[in-house]
Amino acid sequence: MLTTLLVTAVLFIQKSYAQAPDGAQLFQVCSACHQIGKGKLIGPDLKGVTERKERAWLIKFIHNSQEVIQSGDPYAVKLFEDHNKVPMPPFAYSDDQINAILDYIENYNPEQAAAAAAAAAPAIPQTIDGKPYVFMEETKHPWQNFRLTFLVSIALIIISLIDLFLTRLIKAKFIHVIIILISVAVISEVTVLEAKALGRQQYYEPDQPIAFSHYIHAGQNKIDCKYCHFSVTLSKYAGFPSPQLCMNCHNVVRQGKHSGTAEIEKIYKAIETGKSIEWVRVHNLPDHAYFNHAQHIIVGKLDCTECHGEVAKMDRIHQVNNLGMGWCIQCHRTREVQFKTNPFYAKYPELQTELQEGRKAFITVDDIGGTNCSKCHY
Ligand code: HEC
Ligand code: HEC
Ligand code: HEC
Ligand code: HEC
Ligand code: HEC
Ligand code: HEC
Repeated sequence: MLTTLLVTAVLFIQKSYAQAPDGAQLFQVCSACHQIGKGKLIGPDLKGVTERKERAWLIKFIHNSQEVIQSGDPYAVKLFEDHNKVPMPPFAYSDDQINAILDYIENYNPEQAAAAAAAAAPAIPQTIDGKPYVFMEETKHPWQNFRLTFLVSIALIIISLIDLFLTRLIKAKFIHVIIILISVAVISEVTVLEAKALGRQQYYEPDQPIAFSHYIHAGQNKIDCKYCHFSVTLSKYAGFPSPQLCMNCHNVVRQGKHSGTAEIEKIYKAIETGKSIEWVRVHNLPDHAYFNHAQHIIVGKLDCTECHGEVAKMDRIHQVNNLGMGWCIQCHRTREVQFKTNPFYAKYPELQTELQEGRKAFITVDDIGGTNCSKCHY
């Protein structure tokens, strides 16, 4: 009796604590392109959509509409053509989350929605990883502390020298010597580290022409990285989105919660003048090194975060890894390649037998030649 009570209590607690997805909140990102009962925007009016199509189809379409369209589904193809071939971005939502959105659309009540929107207006998330969220604040990096250490060391040397020869407040000379020696050691270490990093730009975080936030787009609004960096799966480059792509949403979203119209207006200006937006590059390898995104994303099945960190939590992008040769090689020595599932690797029969006979647990990038100089240098 007691145990059943306990179990139900625990189940009840779990249920009430596991947050049900909030359809109204999730729909906010869709509202950039869709209305319910107020007509067509960039995408169709979603009123009655659950009667037009069954849930399983809708879930598939919302996950990745392009996949459904490319599969030749006649309804989807017609929809796409009727909307001037504007692609709807893919959404990495769970089935539960999409069902919550569809429930919200099904039970949509305009007055209730207006009241809820008014109540929800100030609800911009206030923290990231427990720290208060400040729009576009510059990140404090250890590098800056380094610079400070450098300056403090120089100041200490100068003060010691002045005291040693002029003011003579401290009588024991060995104290001066110790201070000077320690400071020289610190300065040399900082200099060596800085020299090694010359030309590299870890922690680099430039001002951009538009205060574009990955946290707001990829984090809060869960826009897929590949929607904007669409060439990342096709080519060497991830590339930067054109102002036309921003306009897919921003001809409707004309105002931001933090920057009002000031920043978004710069997109319209770029379109009017026909000038592209001059994004400042953060990551930049020297010309003699070859790096290919598609190879790492599609063939290697790596996630963006492995090399770029938690971009979805960054307002201003900064470079998380040093992109030095050691960093590339370190991963290639230890990282498993998709050897069994990729038919391309049939061309390594010796490695295949080693794997089958259990002499190797898995094949690393190194094993297939990923640390040969010529793979990365022209
Ligand atoms: C950038 C604009 C954009 C955003 C954001 C967007 N959609 Fe769409 N959606 C479209 C377009 C355009 C179509 C028409 C099909 C096409 O062109 O691919 C569409 C079609 C649809 C359809 C099919 C409608 C029908 O009549 O059968 C559904 C369902 C849908 N979207 C749901 C969503 C949901 C849910 C979200 C938010 C998670 C969302 N969309 C976000 C642009 C968008
Ligand atoms: C798929 C839709 C979508 C695309 C594409 C998109 N945005 Fe946004 N953007 C949004 C949404 C949604 C918001 C949030 C509006 C709000 O604050 O409620 C937003 C907000 C903004 C803001 C204001 C932030 C603030 O809070 O003040 C700026 C600036 C911005 N976007 C710039 C861009 C630029 C530049 C591009 C193109 C590189 C772009 N956006 C592409 C949907 C999009
Ligand atoms: C709405 C469009 C949009 C989405 C979604 C988006 N990005 Fe970006 N991304 C941009 C724009 C615009 C820039 C250039 C401005 C800047 O650096 O902030 C950029 C810059 C970057 C850079 C820095 C490039 C460099 O070296 O200068 C990286 C890395 C990056 N994005 C990764 C990602 C990842 C990872 C995701 C998914 C979590 C993502 N992006 C989602 C638009 C987008
Ligand atoms: C294996 C590491 C790695 C992975 C995984 C990776 N990147 Fe990169 N990324 C780099 C390197 C290295 C550069 C610098 C390339 C250069 O300067 O030629 C870069 C540059 C970029 C740039 C600047 C523009 C360009 O084309 O060079 C963007 C944007 C970007 N990455 C986005 C992404 C996105 C989005 C993903 C996930 C879909 C991703 N990256 C996954 C290593 C990686
Ligand atoms: C987080 C791990 C990781 C990092 C960091 C990384 N790579 Fe890779 N790299 C891989 C994987 C996994 C593959 C294997 C993909 C495949 O199966 O072909 C690969 C393959 C390659 C290849 C093709 C090798 C071959 O034998 O065909 C080149 C070239 C390459 N990477 C260059 C670089 C460069 C340059 C850097 C640094 C700027 C880098 N990689 C950083 C994981 C990584
Ligand atoms: C997995 C990719 C990769 C492989 C394999 C590789 N390199 Fe590099 N190498 C790089 C990258 C990336 C840089 C640029 C590093 C930077 O910006 O500091 C670089 C830089 C260099 C430099 C310039 C010095 C420097 O630090 O900038 C030399 C010289 C060099 N590599 C020689 C070699 C030789 C010799 C081999 C073969 C033993 C080799 N590399 C193999 C990726 C690689």
